[in-house]
Amino acid sequence: MKKALVVLPTYNEAENLKTLIPAIFEQQKKLSNWDLQILVVDSFSKDGTKKLLEEFSKKYKGRFFYILKPKKGLGRAYYEGFSYAISNIKPYVVFEMDADWSHDPKKIPEFLRQIEKGADFVIGSRYIKGGSIPKDWAFHRKLFSVLGNIIIRLGFAKPYITDWTSGFRAIRVWVVNKLLREVKGYNSYVFQVALLDKTLKLGARVVEVPINFKDRTKGRSKINSFQYIVHTLLYTFLNSSFIRFVIVGSIGFLIDFISTYSFITYVRMSKPLASSLGGEIAVVSNFILNNFWSFRHKRIKGGTFSYLKSFVKFNFIALGSVIIQYLGMYFALKLFGDFVFGFLNFSISSWMVYKVAVIAIFVIPYSYFMYNRVVWKK
Ligand code: GDD
Ligand code: MN
Repeated sequence: MKKALVVLPTYNEAENLKTLIPAIFEQQKKLSNWDLQILVVDSFSKDGTKKLLEEFSKKYKGRFFYILKPKKGLGRAYYEGFSYAISNIKPYVVFEMDADWSHDPKKIPEFLRQIEKGADFVIGSRYIKGGSIPKDWAFHRKLFSVLGNIIIRLGFAKPYITDWTSGFRAIRVWVVNKLLREVKGYNSYVFQVALLDKTLKLGARVVEVPINFKDRTKGRSKINSFQYIVHTLLYTFLNSSFIRFVIVGSIGFLIDFISTYSFITYVRMSKPLASSLGGEIAVVSNFILNNFWSFRHKRIKGGTFSYLKSFVKFNFIALGSVIIQYLGMYFALKLFGDFVFGFLNFSISSWMVYKVAVIAIFVIPYSYFMYNRVVWKK
């Protein structure tokens, strides 16, 4: 039988643990292929947790474990728990789960069924059909949670993952083993986002099952909302291929403009030639920056020939963008007209607005999609 280990970080959760541990083991009855075990990572709680842990170790000998680690945040607790599990318990799957009854242990079998079906990483999602957040959450809490997830989903251009911050998950241990060193520094709650982002970049199979998140009734939350928001936004900004891709595109636009201007003014090149040469220089710079920065986790390998082949593909995709811009401008002018309007002290031509809109609505999604599918595929 394969081991499924539930890792429970705890800080002053004695009241919850008393009932939660037996309730988790209760699920064993429904599992014929899995050996359910628990590892508590406690941070020297001051509410008698230690004594309780000793009792549980005796009662559930060989399937209940605990370690004590300094209180350095939820992420750090998981890091310590996973490291210990890999070297000492050797499970096939590890669970992340809160110890305050926010996560229903009855869901455990459903997570494991997804693993059996081939998933590497199962997320308990509050935002897919059938899932929920507490109805009585204060407005600002709902807003943060919903808005936060939307920003992350768009930031990473992965809208199909609905719950990035969920703390109820089942993960094949090979994934954890591969990523443990990379997620080591993320001590706070941002650990959840970092682990999922890196899992997706690995190309592992991620699926979601619905969960109904309940508010704790005993003890207190340890989350520092302000720190959490800052860490999460920062992580998204620094690690999103999509945001990097947009930055590279903007740099490309500047390079295009500056080189075209220079060729016309200093080299006295003909304007059409200067413009197309400027465009191609931007294409080269975009290709290099995307390869070594935006999509560095899928960098092209295999020497000069692979590079050339990818570069040719990249040029064809760029040609596609040019055609989209032509069509977009053509239809926008037909539909909305060609005019000039005043804004503050500037006069703006309608074509400028159309160009920006066509790039934002069509060119960016098209090229991001094509780069991922054709040039930098897994
Ligand atoms: N050992 C240890 N050390 N445990 C900790 C620490 C720590 O520094 N910080 C929190 N925990 C434990 C808590 O005791 C609890 O069992 C679990 O981690 C979750 O902590 P809560 O304080 O209850 O978190 P929350 O309910 O505010 O946050 C939930 O929602 C977040 C955002 O959606 C959790 O599900 C998070 O995982 C989730 O990211
Ligand atoms: Mn909680």
